[in-house]
Amino acid sequence: MVPQAGSIDPATLFPDRRPLWLEIGFGGGEHLAEQAAAHPDCGLIGCEPYMTGVARLLAEAEARGLTNLRIVVDDARLLLDALPDGCLERIFVLFPDPWPKARHHKRRIVNPMTAAQFARLLRPGGELRLATDDMDYARAMLLALLPVRNLAWLARGPADWRVPPPDWTSTRYQGKARKADRPCVYLRFERVIGGRKKP
Ligand SMILES: C[S@@+](CC[C@H](N)C(=O)[O-])C[C@H]1O[C@@H](n2cnc3c(N)ncnc32)[C@H](O)[C@@H]1O
Repeated sequence: MVPQAGSIDPATLFPDRRPLWLEIGFGGGEHLAEQAAAHPDCGLIGCEPYMTGVARLLAEAEARGLTNLRIVVDDARLLLDALPDGCLERIFVLFPDPWPKARHHKRRIVNPMTAAQFARLLRPGGELRLATDDMDYARAMLLALLPVRNLAWLARGPADWRVPPPDWTSTRYQGKARKADRPCVYLRFERVIGGRKKP
């Protein structure tokens, strides 16, 4: 059964209604743990079906005493469906599985349907951050996101997609890409009201 939008009340996760950030596919949780430590006033939801990664993150959270993390061990699309409009301040999708074969593209987590969900879930002024080292997926991300009326791409020039943002925290897959000398693409979108904001 498809969960209804709004069937998860964020106040049940963080009763003090603090700003909520979501990371989809956190892998081993390195980035999520760093963000949780750096932003103790935010509530961070991590969604990851890979149990070994979840166990790693839990061990790290315990070792560092992180109390502002909530974990969903499932397919992120179920979570996206269940969260209410405008409940998130930031969404990260970092180095998602590229599914390079054309017949598998439909499995990509960033696609026109999830792009619309990201816009629905972000509050105005909220930010979506994506990264990939797969140039075909980078193009597909842009093709999915640029038509979304309430998302504005925060790029003025090539440095904005070639260089990570200043408050960036590295991820395991970013490390792998760097080691293999593969360039990475970083994309940031702002949730705007009533159409595109000029950069
Ligand atoms: C290539 S890894 C990247 C991990 C991490 N973000 C990094 O940069 O090191 C992609 C991760 O996305 C997770 N994933 C794949 N499909 C997913 C889905 N539908 N919902 C949530 N996570 C998913 C995988 O289990 C995997 O851990």
